[in-house]
Amino acid sequence: MKSPQRLISGIKPTGRLHIGNYFGALKQFVDLQDKYETFVFVANLHALTATPTKENMLEDTKNIILDYLGAGLDPKKVTLFRQSDVTAHTSLAWIFDCLVTVPYLERAHAYKDAEAKAHEVNAGTFTYPVLMASDILLYDADVVPVGKDQKQHIEYARDIAGKFNNQYEELFKLPKELIQDDTAIVPGTDGQKMSKSYNNTIPLFATDEEIEKAVMSITTDSKGKDEEKNPDDMVLYQIHKLFNDSKDLKKQYSKGLGYGDAKKMLIKDIIDFITPMRERRKKYEENPKLVEEILLHGAVHANDIAMKKLQAVYEAAGLTK
Ligand code: ADP
Ligand code: TRP
Repeated sequence: MKSPQRLISGIKPTGRLHIGNYFGALKQFVDLQDKYETFVFVANLHALTATPTKENMLEDTKNIILDYLGAGLDPKKVTLFRQSDVTAHTSLAWIFDCLVTVPYLERAHAYKDAEAKAHEVNAGTFTYPVLMASDILLYDADVVPVGKDQKQHIEYARDIAGKFNNQYEELFKLPKELIQDDTAIVPGTDGQKMSKSYNNTIPLFATDEEIEKAVMSITTDSKGKDEEKNPDDMVLYQIHKLFNDSKDLKKQYSKGLGYGDAKKMLIKDIIDFITPMRERRKKYEENPKLVEEILLHGAVHANDIAMKKLQAVYEAAGLTK
């Protein structure tokens, strides 16, 4: 039997996950865990680029692992680990650092955005795509499910694999991004891209009250109730259809469903959707020992694969005999 292709992805522990993270990234991990040999990690080294406090790092890391498990990642199928538990990620990143040029890294959108905002950007933010390439290439990943904003980073990973293969030896596979077209960019409550940095999120594991508050704040235009509207142009419907994609709902929206009623329906649809995930998350939260075991098991397995690859890289680069 042909062995399954490999999937790897991670999310940074930098605050609560929101439904944009879920539909853009996490849901794909869950949906694909049966099809691929799946590796999912907590990108805590990448989170360091935002210089969080120790307490925030610990808290956000704990939460994101519970979110992964609550959302339905099955630890029996998936290798789940903390990025910092596999030191080969940073070792390989250094080798890649020496293969890329400064102008090449200066072209990264994320770096350009950070430059535009901050006076002095840290070196970790600058070399972010290199560490990410190392996360992916260490595992010979075939596919990397991410939201659309990460597309360029996967291109960097492919380029870097090519550079290494050219310079030394054909060791790396060129990975492919998996981007879900219909959820590539989930809008936030203000209509911009939903993002932790824009204060426009609906948190994934929110309480009923938080869901209600967030939904009530979704922007709606001032058109009259009976005016013709294309639901696909409405932020409220764009969010609603993630939870209920029935033709009937779309029809109701196009027939001028009032915003108040639509929001009530959306609150209920989100709560119904999230309830089983919340229950599963709670079970893991009440069993921290089990969660630690899952992470330990994940780290051992990931290290096993990563160290073998790093050894091959060291040999190819003449760092060891
Ligand atoms: P944020 O923008 O809130 O800081 P991250 O950059 O940590 O989110 O993103 C984590 C993952 O979730 C990435 O794969 C990213 O592409 C995806 N993602 C984030 N926001 C959205 C969104 N609004 N729509 C779709 N996917 C998203
Ligand atoms: N950069 C990704 C994000 O902001 C997180 C990440 C780090 C990642 N390393 C990765 C995603 C490797 C996929 C594969 O969401």
